[in-house]
Amino acid sequence: MLINLRDICSIAEQNNMAIASFNVPSFEALRAAIDVAEQTGYPVILSHAEGHDPFAPLDKIGPTMVALAERSSATLCVHLDHCEHLSYMYKALNMGFTGAMFDGSFLPYEENVANSSRAADMCASFDAGLECELGSMGSREAGSRDEGGTAQESGAIYTDPDQAQEFIARTGLDILACSFGTVHGLYKGEPHLNFDVLTQIRERNNVPLVMHGGSGVSDEDYVKSINAGIRKINYYTYGVKYAGEAVERLVGEKGGKVAYWHDMTTVAYETLRDDFEKVVKVFANGAKPLA
Ligand code: 13P
Repeated sequence: MLINLRDICSIAEQNNMAIASFNVPSFEALRAAIDVAEQTGYPVILSHAEGHDPFAPLDKIGPTMVALAERSSATLCVHLDHCEHLSYMYKALNMGFTGAMFDGSFLPYEENVANSSRAADMCASFDAGLECELGSMGSREAGSRDEGGTAQESGAIYTDPDQAQEFIARTGLDILACSFGTVHGLYKGEPHLNFDVLTQIRERNNVPLVMHGGSGVSDEDYVKSINAGIRKINYYTYGVKYAGEAVERLVGEKGGKVAYWHDMTTVAYETLRDDFEKVVKVFANGAKPLA
């Protein structure tokens, strides 16, 4: 069942849990994300990032995501991740995406407000939910997978709680992506999350909050973040890292006798599915499955 970003985040709000948002730029990741939602009974967000278009073009992966979500027994949202161009957002919404993120975090504040408001109007006309980002994670989602480091090293700017209040009121966004110490890509050392930033944003605003750069965070910090108002956690890098390692092991064991379609895709799918299942259960934060 395909539902709206607002509705899937209200399920998270009602249950004090977070919904996993998995990037799915390969059939293995897409199948793993849907199977985990169907098998666990927890809702999942299937995300396509604009920056992944060279590997997974929207016009091919987008209709596949929408069709599979529509016919699934699981509760799913099909979401556009880190979109920087409104024309690209229009294409995704027009093919049936039910949520979109406008990422204006790299723009001067007033330009971020103006473009996020345009995105809000566009999403409203498709009855889709809108996520926007304030502050900056530093590292980009489509950057190299080992780009992350720490929030300080990647030039992150934490979300300002007072500015967040104004930003939400002026843009009409539905959910807010916050920068509070996570980064995209691989961490070098332990991430240090600033829960005060989250708590202050949440005290001033009642919108669901989003953690980007969700992989590599400890289970304890996931739970603390959820209890502080995080309702959507974006997770991708560590899943594909583990899948890559599993493929490497397979090649090491079987030498040159590895078939791409059968051996490699199966081991990648199984590794992604097991890892996605693990995080979905942590993000549920004790809530019962829906189905
Ligand atoms: P990771 O790189 O930590 O998996 O985060 C993914 C993400 O935030 C996508 O928007």
